[in-house]
Amino acid sequence: MEITLSPAVREGFAAAVRESLGLVFPPSRALALDRGIATVAALLGEPDRAVLLSRLLDGDPAVREALIVELTVGETYLFRDASHFDFVRDVALPEAARRGGPVRLWSAGCATGEEAWSLAITAHEALGAAAAERVEVLGTDLNPRFLERARRGWYGPWSFRGVDPARRDRWFRAESNGWSVVPEVRPGVRFGPLNLLDDVSTAWPRGVDVIFCRNVAIYFDLDTVGRLAASFARSLLVGGWLVPGPSDPLLPPGLGLNASLGGPLVYRRVTGMEVDADPRRELPFAPAPAPLAPARRSSVPPLRSPAVVAAHRASPVVREPVERARELADAGDLAGATRLLDEALVLDGLNPALYLLRSTVRQATGDAPGACHDAEKAVVIDRSLAFAHVLLAAGRVRLADLTSARRALRNARALLLSAPTDQPVPHAGAQGRDALLAICDRLGRSLGEAVPAKRRG
Ligand SMILES: C[S@@+](CC[C@H](N)C(=O)[O-])C[C@H]1O[C@@H](n2cnc3c(N)ncnc32)[C@H](O)[C@@H]1O
Repeated sequence: MEITLSPAVREGFAAAVRESLGLVFPPSRALALDRGIATVAALLGEPDRAVLLSRLLDGDPAVREALIVELTVGETYLFRDASHFDFVRDVALPEAARRGGPVRLWSAGCATGEEAWSLAITAHEALGAAAAERVEVLGTDLNPRFLERARRGWYGPWSFRGVDPARRDRWFRAESNGWSVVPEVRPGVRFGPLNLLDDVSTAWPRGVDVIFCRNVAIYFDLDTVGRLAASFARSLLVGGWLVPGPSDPLLPPGLGLNASLGGPLVYRRVTGMEVDADPRRELPFAPAPAPLAPARRSSVPPLRSPAVVAAHRASPVVREPVERARELADAGDLAGATRLLDEALVLDGLNPALYLLRSTVRQATGDAPGACHDAEKAVVIDRSLAFAHVLLAAGRVRLADLTSARRALRNARALLLSAPTDQPVPHAGAQGRDALLAICDRLGRSLGEAVPAKRRG
C-alpha cells in the first residue's frame, strides 16, 4: 500500500486532524502523518484516502478513534524529569495544603498514566496519611487506549527506568512480569478523556493547584500554545502552578502565568486576569465540590512549609504597605489607603492581607461588589482565613446573593469556632474571635436565622 500522500491530500488531512482531533502535524512531521494514515487505511480496509478524509470530516467514530490511536505518541515513564516532582514536593504541595481544602493535581496529556501516578505517589510521600484524604489527581488524554492502560496502573520494567527500586517496591506490587500501583494510592486518582484543543469543553477542570502538561505542546504552533496557556490559567487557582516539559515552547506573556526562575521552569498563576467567582465549581475531579468541613479540617490540619510561609509573611514588600494603608484608613483617608493597596497588589498579587484590607476599605466606601471580589480572592489564596469568609459573607449579603452568603457564613463560623480563643484572628486587625462571631450572628439574622443560643468557650 502507498504510504506517501500527495501534498494536497496531506494538507487536507493535517487540517482535519487538527480541527477535529486536536492533533497538530507541522510539515516537519509529514512522514509520521502519512504513516499513521496508511495504518488506519489498512486497518479499516479503506484504501482510498479521499474517502477516508471525507469519513473523518463527517465525524465517523471508527476513523476518528483509529487516527487518534495511531497518531498520538505516548512516550512517557515514571518520575520523568525528577526535578519537577521535587518541585511539587518541596514547594507546590506545602503551599496547596496550606490553602486548606482539597489539593488538586492534573496531568494533562497523561498518555498511559505514569505522570499522574508519579504525582499521586509524590503527594503520598510528601503529605503522608493526609494525602489519602485531601489529594485528588486527574489524568486526561485524547487517546482512549492510553487511558485504559492508565486506569489499570500496571507497568513493565521500561516505565521504571531511573526509578529507585526501593521507591518502586514501596508503591507498586510485583505482578505478571511488571508492577501494579498499590491500592493505597488508587482512590484519589482518576482518568478521563479531554481534548486540550477543545477549549470550550465543560470538562475542563477548575480550582487546580498544579497542572503538569509536559511534552504535549511541543507539536503545537504558537497560536495554539497561547490558547492552551490561557485555558490552563483559567483552570488554576491563583497561586497554582503550571509545569511544562523541558523542551516545550515558552509561554507568551500577559495570560496571568508568570515564569518562575531558580529551579525548573514553571509558571505561577497570578492575578491580573479575571478568575471564576467560584473556581472550585464544575470540577470533574470529584463528584461534588468539597465544601469546607470543620470535622475534616480538624482531623487533617493544613500542612505548612515553614520556609515558604515565613518568606511569604515576612516579605517587606507586603507587610509595610499593609501597615501604612491601615494607618491611612484608620485616619479616614480611604482613597489614599486604596491607592497604596492597589500599588502593593501589583507587586504581590498573592498576599491575602492586601486583599482583606482593601475589601474592608471597599466595604467602608459602599463598594460591595469590589469588597466581595477582594474577599473572594483572599479565600482563593488561603481558604483557612476566617476573616476572609466573614467579609465574603457580608459582601454577599449586601449583594443579596443569599445562597452564597449562607455558605460563606457557615465557613466563617466553622473556622472561628475551631480557632483558639486567646489569639488574634489573622488579618482582622483589632477584631477578635468573639467580635467576629457576633458579626456572623448579625449577618445570620439578616439571612433569616433564629437568634443563636449563647455560645460557650
Ligand atoms: C509524549 S506524551 C506525554 C506524556 C507525559 N505528559 C509525559 O511528559 O511523560 C504526549 C501525550 O499528549 C497527548 N495529546 C496530544 N495532543 C493532545 C490533545 N490535543 N489533547 C489531549 N491530549 C493530547 C497524546 O495522546 C499523548 O498521550
